[in-house]
Amino acid sequence: MAKIKCPKCPFEIETDGIVTVCPECHADLTKVMEEAGRAARKTRGSIARDDSVTTHEFIVRTKGLKKIYKMGEVEVPALRGVDVDIRRGEYLSIMGPSGSGKSTLFNMVGGLDKPTEGTCFIEAVDMAQLDAFELAWLRCRKIGYIFQSFNLIPVMTALENVTLPMIFAGMGSDEMMERGQMLLDLVGLGGRLHHKPYELSGGQQQRVAVARALANSPAIILADEPTGNLDLQTGKEIIDLLKELNAESGVTIISATHDLKMIDASDRIIHIRDGEVERIELRSEIDLKIGHLAGAEEDEEPK
Ligand SMILES: Nc1ncnc2c1ncn2[C@@H]1O[C@H](COP(=O)(O)OP(=O)(O)O)[C@@H](O)[C@H]1O
Ligand SMILES: [Mg+2]
Repeated sequence: MAKIKCPKCPFEIETDGIVTVCPECHADLTKVMEEAGRAARKTRGSIARDDSVTTHEFIVRTKGLKKIYKMGEVEVPALRGVDVDIRRGEYLSIMGPSGSGKSTLFNMVGGLDKPTEGTCFIEAVDMAQLDAFELAWLRCRKIGYIFQSFNLIPVMTALENVTLPMIFAGMGSDEMMERGQMLLDLVGLGGRLHHKPYELSGGQQQRVAVARALANSPAIILADEPTGNLDLQTGKEIIDLLKELNAESGVTIISATHDLKMIDASDRIIHIRDGEVERIELRSEIDLKIGHLAGAEEDEEPK
């Protein structure tokens, strides 16, 4: 929550969003707003960082995103025109059955693959306009990736896995070790720095992956079914951890799931089906649904 003081009149506004005009005297608040944004980013910069100089409300936007995979002669439409606007600092869940296009959408937003048609903007930047170097820079520093199968490097320790992206970002080795330890501490694995993935449980491996996603203080975390290989309780712990990071550092989280039980953390849910946005659910509707799910669980208990 930022407190914005109008430079022209005594009016003070408390806001989570972006206010560019004073509601009282109509003075231009853009500069004050940017200053407030910079101050907020400074304090939370060590875990995740939104170092944009703009005040775009949306950190990710897709317009008419289509992806058709070609399998020999056969064309598989995976996305059929997806428009989504994702707000800065939002915890967004993308929900849809297996094969609905969630991973394809992630690959486009994360710059891992290119759409057949349509555009994907990160802030105001059209990713299709970036050259290979710029795209690599964006992927390395702006986005942290978490996958269902953890994707840790098996011969490396937890600390080495977490510091690897820092090497690509050109961080010095002392700073790298210190930051790697801080991040592993943050995810509750301060005592497992030198364990290799096979010496860790699934939940612990995913925690290492969460720490790795934070390596270069990203503005966005993309989590593709992060709980898909975990049992219910461990999955909930990972979602709680992501929610905490979202609340404390302001990092935007976009998480794909097909598990309804994981929706509690979400600010919004985008339901996709057959490569299209089916509907968008808001927090108030999510609260209703959680109440309903909790009720159903109580009913299941033996009488
Ligand atoms: N590399 C690929 N080549 C061909 N078809 C693919 C490829 N990746 C995904 N698909 C197809 O695209 C559709 C969407 O897949 P995907 O995005 O992986 O869905 P989800 O992540 O929701 O399970 C599916 O029909 C899938 O078979
Ligand atoms: Mg998938």
